[in-house]
Amino acid sequence: MKTTVRQLLDGGPTISVGMLTADLLRLGDELAVLEQAGANVVHVDVMDGVFCPQFTVGPPIVKAIPDGFIKDCHLMIDDPLDKLQSFVDAGASIITCHVESTRHPHRVLQSLAGSGVIRGIALNPGTPLAVIEPLLDDLELVFLLAVNPGWGGQKFLPSTEARLARAREIIGGREILLEVDGGITKANIEHVATLGADLIVSGSAIYDGVAPGDNARYMLEAVRKATARAS
Ligand code: DX5
Ligand code: ZN
Repeated sequence: MKTTVRQLLDGGPTISVGMLTADLLRLGDELAVLEQAGANVVHVDVMDGVFCPQFTVGPPIVKAIPDGFIKDCHLMIDDPLDKLQSFVDAGASIITCHVESTRHPHRVLQSLAGSGVIRGIALNPGTPLAVIEPLLDDLELVFLLAVNPGWGGQKFLPSTEARLARAREIIGGREILLEVDGGITKANIEHVATLGADLIVSGSAIYDGVAPGDNARYMLEAVRKATARAS
């Protein structure tokens, strides 16, 4: 479904559920479980075997996800410019490209202007935050990876905490979302939810092959608790 920054901000911080470890042969069932748990943002990790080692999925899977979900597409692909329209056509709600994946991040963002999608720029853990400053007029979302791109199930890098705080400062009063991705589990979700992100990606801790519905409920409740305590 199409959504806006305002709608997401008004809804308060929430989780974006990573599909990397979901059973794609049972996509409908896997998503129904999320819907029942009250999670409506689905995070699709798109990897091209070039920008990062794995190959994963592309626009057909984005299209297969029902339109009732907010489709949060994280493109870990080299030179994304000429691939963007296929994600727009597949119904993406959010398209995030890595600043390291293109020589022309401005052009990438500007090419999505008017498409109705929320435009994000992602940074690997080793990329200085200053790169987002010149892009702030052309994006709606800043996205920090808390792990190196490539796999689910890695450990949340502690340096992410200070990076989230700095990203918040750089964003200032602008209507721009902040997202964090990687290594977020039941053990650290409540803490991560205090660090200022609007969208918190969690993948393998939810699609653990055992109880994705219960896991999603746990994560949503933890974010609600942390947000309520902060307000
Ligand atoms: C890393 C991906 C993440 C990751 C999330 O390259 O962008 O979305 O798979 O999975 P977990 O929650 O397992 O770290
Ligand atoms: Zn991701």
